[in-house]
Amino acid sequence: TQKDQMRKKCASERLRKDKKRKLRARMCDSNIEKRDRVPCVSAYNECVKSLHKIMKKKLLVSIIYCIFAFKFKRLNMNFKKKRWHCFPGQPITELDKQVMYWENKGKEVPTRDLIKTPEQIEGIKRAGVINTGVLDEVAKHIKAGMNTLEIDKICYDYCTAHGATPACLNYEGYPKSVCTSINEVVCHGIPKEEDVLEEGDIINVDFTTILDGYYADASRMFIIGKTTPEKEQLVRVAKECLEIGAEAAKPYCFVGDIGYAIEQHANKYNYGVVRDLCGHGVGLKFHEKPDITHYGKKGTGMLLVPGMVFTIEPMINMGTWQVFLDSEDPFGWEIISGDELPSAQWEHTFVMTEHGVEILTY
Ligand code: MF3
Ligand code: CO
Ligand code: CO
Repeated sequence: TQKDQMRKKCASERLRKDKKRKLRARMCDSNIEKRDRVPCVSAYNECVKSLHKIMKKKLLVSIIYCIFAFKFKRLNMNFKKKRWHCFPGQPITELDKQVMYWENKGKEVPTRDLIKTPEQIEGIKRAGVINTGVLDEVAKHIKAGMNTLEIDKICYDYCTAHGATPACLNYEGYPKSVCTSINEVVCHGIPKEEDVLEEGDIINVDFTTILDGYYADASRMFIIGKTTPEKEQLVRVAKECLEIGAEAAKPYCFVGDIGYAIEQHANKYNYGVVRDLCGHGVGLKFHEKPDITHYGKKGTGMLLVPGMVFTIEPMINMGTWQVFLDSEDPFGWEIISGDELPSAQWEHTFVMTEHGVEILTY
């Protein structure tokens, strides 16, 4: 029985071993199968991988294509409306470099005719001297009880006596030689006998002189007698706005830099900066390009380069920035503040130099 038992044990042992062997064999089989499958799987993987590669490449290619298309379009666009040209055979100046650089960046740049020659600047300066004389003459005589037609006469007489012409007279239907804008009149107030200056009024006198074909344009505020602290502050802040705007006007800056600086200052007082009227290029004509807006974003608008001549003339309202045309003005010139609160303005003609602006209407 012992032997029997041994045999049984051995048999079961064999059976177990057999099973193990079979199992191993099966595992081996499956290994083979696995091994068989491996090339198949890797082919699939390879396929996916290369597809990915192609996709990646395509993506890269399309990105590169997009960049080139965009650049080319811009280049092409610039090519089409290219404004700036260097003089053939002459060295490229700093001005050429700057203008071409910014034009390629898609910025608005001046045309050559906006850049005045030294002789032209001298001519505008001479017109500026007379213009300043006109405003000084007004300062000497302006007082309560005077009407604005009298101011018009002072201006006309001084200007013509100095061999110059008042630019406003008959300009696009404007009937007088100067603009006299009292209190809520923002600008383009037409001199008239009925407009008598009263104590406490604030008035802007805006005059433009033509001398030998050159234009100079400036305006000042006058306070008649003693006025309220509110109006006094408005007049002072409007002047500061002009000064701050002029300070912001650096060579190779943008028109928007000036407007931004002005707006920042006016905002401190909650004043409205008029948007419907702006400063302008000046010199060979009354109103040239560019528009000098007194509001704006830095780096926007036209590039300002040495030799450009323009006015800065912020109109600052005590209340809303909005304005409207006075319906009672038969000439359609007078501009009134939207809420009929007082408005103030100062103006100078400037030339851009290598260092900043120089006033031509001192
Ligand atoms: N002198 C104003 C200006 O600063 C323009 C006045 S135009 C006029 O631009 F016709 F009203 F005189
Ligand atoms: Co003016
Ligand atoms: Co002007």
